[in-house]
Amino acid sequence: MDTQHQLPAALFGLPKAVLRVLYRLGTKYPVFQAIFARELRAIGATSWTAQLIDDFIHRPYGEAYGLTPKERQTLVESFQRNIATIQSGTPLSVHLVLAREILQIPPTVVGDVVECGVWKGACSASLSLVCQRTERRLKVCDSFQGLPDDGTKRHVGLHTRVYGHYQAGQFTGTLDEVRENIARGGALSVCDFIQGFFEDSLHQIDSPVAFAFLDVDLESSTRDCLKALWPRLVTDGLLYCDDAGDLDVVRVYFDEPWWQETLHFPAPGFVGSGCGLPLSPTYTSIGYTRKTGAFDPSQWRKVPFLHYPEENERT
Ligand SMILES: C[S@@+](CC[C@H](N)C(=O)[O-])C[C@H]1O[C@@H](n2cnc3c(N)ncnc32)[C@H](O)[C@@H]1O
Repeated sequence: MDTQHQLPAALFGLPKAVLRVLYRLGTKYPVFQAIFARELRAIGATSWTAQLIDDFIHRPYGEAYGLTPKERQTLVESFQRNIATIQSGTPLSVHLVLAREILQIPPTVVGDVVECGVWKGACSASLSLVCQRTERRLKVCDSFQGLPDDGTKRHVGLHTRVYGHYQAGQFTGTLDEVRENIARGGALSVCDFIQGFFEDSLHQIDSPVAFAFLDVDLESSTRDCLKALWPRLVTDGLLYCDDAGDLDVVRVYFDEPWWQETLHFPAPGFVGSGCGLPLSPTYTSIGYTRKTGAFDPSQWRKVPFLHYPEENERT
C-alpha cells in the first residue's frame, strides 16, 4: 500500500499573480511553507510519472506481442481512468511498471499473472487489460473481506517515518464490487477470482506463474503468498511487491532459514528495500525480487572494475 501517494498538486493551473502572492505568504508564515513544500514534492513526483508515461509509450514494450505506441497510449489512458474512478492503493507509476514488466515477458514463456491483495480492483482492472493483450490469465486473489487480524503489531517505515497499525477488515472490497470495477475498467473475461485468506485459498493455483504482484501489507500474508506462489513461479520470473517501505515485510525476502526450510530455495533478496524503486525523488512503495536459475553469464553485464578469473582458467 502506497502511504505516500499524494493528490495531484493543487497549485497546477493557478495564474502567476496568485502564485506570487502565495509565495510571499509562504516565505512569511511556516504553515504556508509546509503547504508549499508538500505541493512542490507532488509536482516533482508528477514529472517523474510523466517520464514513465513517455517511456512506456515510446519504448517498444510488448513488441513481441505486436503492441503499437498507439495501443500503449490507450493502455495509459485506461490506467489513468481506473485510478480516477476506482479507489486505488497504487498510483499510476505502479500500474505502468507492472504493465511494462508483463509486456516484456517473452510470449514463449507459459504462465499466468497473479495479483494478491486487490482491495477494490483498480490495479486488477489495469493488469487485466495487459493480460488480455498478452493472452494470459489474471488470478485475482483476495479475502474480499479486507485484511486479516494482525494483532497489535506496529508497522514502521524507517525511510518514510510513517508508523501505525492495520485493522482487521481494512481495505475491504467485496467480490461483487471488484468484479464490477474490472468489468467497467478492464477485461473481466481473462480473470479468475481466488477468494479467501491466502493460507487457505492460494493452493488452488496449480499452473505456472509468469509474473506475480503482492500488495498484502502484512508480513504473515507475504509469507503465505510466497509459500504458495514461489514453487509455481517460472525460472527468471519476477515477483513485485508494493510493501517495499515496510522492513518487516522486506526482511522476509532475506530470511535464509525460512526460505531453506519452507521453500528449499536460497533467500532471493529484494530490490528496493525500504524506499522502493527509483520512480520518484523521495520514495516509492514498490520493489521486486526474481527467481533466478543457474548463473548464465550471457544474461549479465561485465564491468571494467571487476575481475573474471573463470576466463583466465579457460585460456
Ligand atoms: C492495500 S490493499 C491492496 C490495494 C490494491 N493492490 C490496489 O492497488 O488498490 C491490501 C489487500 O490485501 C488483502 N489481504 C491482505 N492479507 C490477506 C490475506 N492473508 N488473505 C487474503 N487477502 C489479504 C486485503 O483484503 C486487501 O484487499
